[in-house]
Amino acid sequence: MGHNILAPSILAADCADLRTEIQTIEAEGAEYVHIDVMDGVFVPSLSFGIPVVESVRKITKLVLDVHLMIIHPLKYIKQFAEAGADSITFHMESGDDPDEVIEAIRAAGCRVGISIRPGTPIEDVYKYLDKVDMLLIMTVEPGFGGQKYIEASTARIAQARYHINSCDLKVNIEVDGGITEETVRTVIEVGANVIVAGSAIFHGDTAANCRRYVDILSHTGPGEVL
Ligand code: DX5
Ligand code: ZN
Repeated sequence: MGHNILAPSILAADCADLRTEIQTIEAEGAEYVHIDVMDGVFVPSLSFGIPVVESVRKITKLVLDVHLMIIHPLKYIKQFAEAGADSITFHMESGDDPDEVIEAIRAAGCRVGISIRPGTPIEDVYKYLDKVDMLLIMTVEPGFGGQKYIEASTARIAQARYHINSCDLKVNIEVDGGITEETVRTVIEVGANVIVAGSAIFHGDTAANCRRYVDILSHTGPGEVL
């Protein structure tokens, strides 16, 4: 796995100036752009869709990390892939058969992420981990930026990392929600290596925030796995 990756979530960005926001995070060492897709059904909010992925694709070489918070994602996989997604993450609770969604994402040529809500037992995702590149452990209830990190997430990340390593799988663990300077080190120390941050990056001085997080990420490593 090697190093930790910063994935700024543009949900918190100034969308009237998305080009500048993305160029800034790119210049400051972010590697992914995290794009939250919400349908008003799987989560209460609405956010970005396929046209936004298409537009962002044209202005950056960063990895487009698309996070689908939608029910029945299967019918949209091909469109997100064609729009330029590099990695597509869907929720195991989204109503379609996870094995079918995983296959569809692979067939579309993208990296595969599977996500789990805070209330779903972490063991429920284990049976899919040998088929995916990334496990996204939600550290808040999906749906809104700016929420507080759910403390119980720490044990879930540690448990998933222990399982992944003991099965000798090569799976990234991404965390999403409430990642701040108070929580970022903890999540990395217990085994997360792809770090989503929305408000922490885009509220205030995007460049300075990004620089600070990239620095923290490069100086923090996994602790002893529990
Ligand atoms: C929430 C989204 C997140 C959100 C995180 O459902 O999946 O990606 O942008 O926002 P912060 O970092 O502000 O908690
Ligand atoms: Zn997200």
